[in-house]
Amino acid sequence: MRQMFDGIAGTYDLLNHLLSAGVDILWRRWTVDALDLKAGWWILDLATGTADLGLEAAARDPGVRVVGADLSLPMLRRGNKKQKRKSGQLFLLCGDAQRLPFPDARFHAVTIGFGVRNFSDLTAGLHEILRVLRPGGRLAILEFSRPRAFLLSRAYLFYFRFILPGIGRLVSRNPLAYRYLYESVMRFPEGEAFRTRLTQTGFLEPVERRLTLGIATLYLASKP
Ligand SMILES: C[S@@+](CC[C@H](N)C(=O)[O-])C[C@H]1O[C@@H](n2cnc3c(N)ncnc32)[C@H](O)[C@@H]1O
Repeated sequence: MRQMFDGIAGTYDLLNHLLSAGVDILWRRWTVDALDLKAGWWILDLATGTADLGLEAAARDPGVRVVGADLSLPMLRRGNKKQKRKSGQLFLLCGDAQRLPFPDARFHAVTIGFGVRNFSDLTAGLHEILRVLRPGGRLAILEFSRPRAFLLSRAYLFYFRFILPGIGRLVSRNPLAYRYLYESVMRFPEGEAFRTRLTQTGFLEPVERRLTLGIATLYLASKP
């Protein structure tokens, strides 16, 4: 997993924007909007990758401090380069979302953009998030999902399965990463199944907002 992301770090941002026609930028903006950030808050952006979601949160308010954590150093290095051109307080660290080096109840909010699907142990990852959130702390998870409308889902799945991996392979020169993307989205317990996982972990009232015809979903929940 880490090696795969190390290998595509150089082209990750370009392909994100290209393959989603730039809509991924809006999705991250809506994710941060949903948190209603306040000055003085500490935010943890897990699986931060090249830090687009962390940078979006940090830019909202100079009083917000964001910690971005990821397994892949090359992804973090790209994020670090971008950080120098942007405003806000963002601190990047290399670490595993399933074993976080933070005390209990440290963060006011946790965000994850297109990362939770990659956790090798989803249960452990969700329990770690609950542990490091303060009581009342908020969770916002942005993840790909499968459109439900019949015709759209056929067309989208064709694109996602056959066209996207080809473009991904050409640009990133990695034969597996964008096929893995399709396979991991098909496997992920999305929608109600994921909300149930959140409830079982101990999160309060998880809700989902389907974005852009259900290509992505934003899950929101809080710690009791
Ligand atoms: C698809 S990228 C998402 C990057 C970014 N959040 C975004 O919005 O584009 C997934 C990231 O998850 C990271 N990742 C996967 N498993 C992880 C784990 N257990 N702990 C921390 N990061 C992880 C990968 O290294 C990769 O950078």
